[in-house]
Parts: sequence; C-alpha cells; structure tokens
Amino acid sequence: MLVLGLESSCDETAAALVEDGRRILGDVVSSQVAAHRPYGGVVPEIASRHHVENIIPVIEQALAQAGVELADVEGLAVTRGPGLVGSLLVGVQVAKAVAFARGLPLVGVNHLEGHLCAVFLDADEVPAFPHLALLVSGGHSELIVAHDFGRYELLGATRDDAAGEAFDKVGKMLGLGYPAGPLVDRLAASGDPRAVRLPRAMRGRGLDMSFSGLKTAVMTHVRARGLPSGQPLADLCASFQAAVVAQLVEKTVAALEKRRLGELVVTGGVACNRGLRAALERQAKERGFRLFLPPPSRCTDNAAMIAAAGYHRLARGERDDLTLSAVATLPL
Ligand code: KG4
Ligand code: ZN
Repeated sequence: MLVLGLESSCDETAAALVEDGRRILGDVVSSQVAAHRPYGGVVPEIASRHHVENIIPVIEQALAQAGVELADVEGLAVTRGPGLVGSLLVGVQVAKAVAFARGLPLVGVNHLEGHLCAVFLDADEVPAFPHLALLVSGGHSELIVAHDFGRYELLGATRDDAAGEAFDKVGKMLGLGYPAGPLVDRLAASGDPRAVRLPRAMRGRGLDMSFSGLKTAVMTHVRARGLPSGQPLADLCASFQAAVVAQLVEKTVAALEKRRLGELVVTGGVACNRGLRAALERQAKERGFRLFLPPPSRCTDNAAMIAAAGYHRLARGERDDLTLSAVATLPL
C-alpha cells in the first residue's frame, strides 16, 4: 500500500511516500530554521504561515522524487498531534482536502508514534516486539515499551524539560544560536566532560527524568564564572552533554533490566547526539542488548515516519473522516 504522509507539527513541513510502512520512495523535509533563528525559537504564527506556503510544493516534490502521481497514492496519513495547533491544522486540512477530492482512506497519526516507527524505514534489520524505545526530542523524553504497532506503554518521562529543550536552552544561554542541540554536540566533541561538575539528577529514583535542574546548574556556573569561550566553552558543553547522557543511559538501562527487554530503539532529534549514540553503543556491547539507532535524518522530524505509522493503522482498517482535527496535547 502506497501511503502519502504529511507532517507539520512544529517547524518542519514534510511529505513522504512510503510503501507498506517500510520502503521510502519519496521523502522531502522543508526546514523553517532560518525563519525562526532571529527569534531564538519557533514562533507559532510564523510557523503556520510557512506551512501554508510550503506544503503543496513539498507534496509535489515528494511525488516527483518517488516518480508517482497523486492517482497512485492508496492512503493518507497526517500528524494530528501533539504539536503547535496552528501548524498541525495546516497538514490536517490539506490531508482532508486530498482525501475528499481523491476518495482516499485517511488516518490521523500521533507524532510520537511516528518517531517510534522511524526504525522500520529502509532497514535491513528491524526490532521485534516487545522492545524498549527511548524517545528524546525537543518536546519529549520518554521511555516506552512498544508491544506492537499501535500498542504502547509509558514507563517513564521527564518531569520538566525535554532533553532537546534542555540542549536548546543551555545552548541559547551560551550564545550558540538556534537550534542549539547540534551546536552543543559539535563543541562537546573537543571538550573535557569532567571539567565542570554538574548534578546527576534523579539518580536511582525510578524511571522518570528531569533536566531543568541541570539547566539551572549551568546558569549558576555561567553567573559565577562569566560566559565562557574557546576551550572552557567546549568543556562546559561536554560536561553538560555528559550529564544529560548519563541520566538517559542510567534510566534506559534500568528500564531494560526491569522489563527484561533485549532490544532498544532510540529515536527523536536528540538521538542524533553523538555522545548519546556512543554511550549507548558501549552499553549495548557490555550488556549484550540489541541497539537500533535510525540514521540522523530519520531521528529528526520527517513525514516518512508518519506514513509508516499511518500504514499500520490503515492496514488494521482504521479510518478517520472529515471531522478529523488537530490536538495540541495528544497523548500516545
Ligand atoms: O524530533 P525533533 O526533530 O523535533 C521534535 O519533535 O521536537 O527534535 C528536535 C530536537 C531539538 O531540541 C534539537 O536541538 C535536538 O532535537 N537535537 C539535538 C541534536 N540534533 C537535534 N540535540 C543534541 N544533539 C544533537 N546532535
Ligand atoms: Zn518530533
């Protein structure tokens, strides 16, 4: 089944064509980063306007890349939440219009389920069910047991900031620009992770996480020592990143052991972080669990993952009608 997926939950306008939830034929992501950079974060009104301008050209590019026509599409999947409601509505309205005009089956998809399905795209080896997923993005930090497509169990989540949000806020504090996560990652590579002592939050306290105290600790350090540059900046980035990674690794390993799971999927924008990837690869080798790390372009927001999640819903016979709406705080 050829599914057209649409994603517009935040600041990326994306369309993709995916066969049977596995094979990507066309995959286009139009980033709005440049439009939001002057403001140091995503401005919802600007995001919605850009989605309106970009979504039709992005769909046309995805169809051209796949070498197919709209008439070849057999189903539609669109992100219905969570996200910025004005942004979500653009994708949802376009999906409903196309579904109505072409008489196609339509399904609304949870953005988080999309991230969980990214691991099945264009992959030689895929995880079996049940497996553990660490979902770390700009809006979420969650440990989830995936029992099957569409059957998920939340084991733990952040009590305050998401991991990506902490990366972005700390980077902004250090004058690194937006989005700061990848910039912190780059600087951390040449820094000493033991240079600055930072708290290890939530150690030994269940599977929930917390990153906001760490952010405050970095702020306190900067207030006392002044804004660093050069090597001290790299050292602070490395120390912060190491503290985030240590917490994520501790919680993930604890969840694997608690539920006796042997397979781990890591997904969401923060799954691009090289420090996190390296630490989990080390753990996988030492502890003998199987690690699935999708390539960075499939960890960040894209529409192929939405098409994959939507395919499994459509294949189970799920359908949404034209009353489908966006939900800003949709739980998984
Ligand atoms: O999944 P995503 O594209 O969007 C959301 O659903 O939130 O994740 C974006 C987040 C941002 O906070 C960004 O700074 C972070 O992922 N990110 C990174 C890296 N690449 C992206 N954080 C740390 N290291 C990276 N290399
Ligand atoms: Zn996302």
